Amino acid sequence: MTRHTAAPLPATLAGMIQRLDHSRCSGTRELGTEAGSVATRHYTDPLHWQQEQQAVFSQWPIVAAHSAELGPHSALPFDALGVPIVLTRDGDGRARAFFNVCRHRGMALVAPAGADPAQARPCKALVCPYHGWTYELDGRLRHRLHAETFDGIDAATLSLVELPCDEAAGLVFVKRSPGPAFSAAAFLQGLDSHLDWLGLAGMRVFRKIDRVYAANWKLTVDAFLEGYHIRVLHRDTIYPFFADAFIVNLHAGPHQDSLVARRAAFESFETPGDRTALCKLATPTQLLFPNTFLIWHPDYVSLIGMFSPAVDQVRWVHTMLIPPDRCGEDWTPHWEKTFGLIEQTVFQQEDIATAVAIQRGLASGANAQFQLGRLEHEVLRFHRGIDAAIAGTLLPAGGDAVR
Ligand code: FES
Repeated sequence: MTRHTAAPLPATLAGMIQRLDHSRCSGTRELGTEAGSVATRHYTDPLHWQQEQQAVFSQWPIVAAHSAELGPHSALPFDALGVPIVLTRDGDGRARAFFNVCRHRGMALVAPAGADPAQARPCKALVCPYHGWTYELDGRLRHRLHAETFDGIDAATLSLVELPCDEAAGLVFVKRSPGPAFSAAAFLQGLDSHLDWLGLAGMRVFRKIDRVYAANWKLTVDAFLEGYHIRVLHRDTIYPFFADAFIVNLHAGPHQDSLVARRAAFESFETPGDRTALCKLATPTQLLFPNTFLIWHPDYVSLIGMFSPAVDQVRWVHTMLIPPDRCGEDWTPHWEKTFGLIEQTVFQQEDIATAVAIQRGLASGANAQFQLGRLEHEVLRFHRGIDAAIAGTLLPAGGDAVR
């Protein structure tokens, strides 16, 4: 990736790079303080799943799209949270979210794209396909066919139902339930500065895939929270590029940033001055709690949402983001090949296939708990975070923001 107009290197990211250097020089891995376990009912219990839905997926800001997916004067359907939502961006540039439900008799205003992942469609207004009620992109009802027949029913009371929505660092966040506004930047608790330095907002969308697999969503989250498995599971694909479980982590509230050391860091190490240099030494990986990962490969980014349509299903939405100077047709074969390798081979055949196999094994009852060593401490922390969110002792930062 080419050098971008980077924000100053955040001190917190600089600290992670120093720790990575120390770790490779000393040959010591950063470990958790203790081994632990996770109850396997967290992956199978319908009650636990309902609690997650109510306390986490209904209450927390969730990444719905990269900002580049929602151009000016456009609308993007989003239903991965289990309710129909439409994102819009008006000429004022602001991203908004509404229930994708007409206030007349409930028809979806913007239809999902069917089997393919949803894409934004250019529009100046939202026109209901049932009777033609028309809404501004800010949700106000603009026009009713035969309005005089509605006998004084005030159009001003029939705006679309708006959902909290905000944008930071190139990501559009939405909450599934109506409520007060929130600040996406505050929600990120400092990680927005890391994402700004990495240049997330300037990336472009190359490809998106949206599929459901037979595994609890947390099994796929777990896989991206530890490097312990890379040496074995990914032996023939990506392990040749990575050091064996040399990772430094930084916590930002419930979120996490990690530098997963690559072998190149052990061959020659210079303090990186930009994203390209950093991504040669390590793969920055962020978990935006609860269900979104950003993985910074050497020349592109995987934005992955792991949604939970049922206790034994994960809806996997992987968006491949590429640098803006590599978007031309000449680059298409390169990105097609790259997407195939990472999505179909590494993710689908290795990480997701493993999650599906584990889910199948859970039905046996062989394990009441999964055992986690000190190289897997972030998995433990994540599950404790989910438990705390369910208990109401962990709440998202940045709520009740004043615009
Ligand atoms: Fe939308 Fe009738 S349901 S116009």
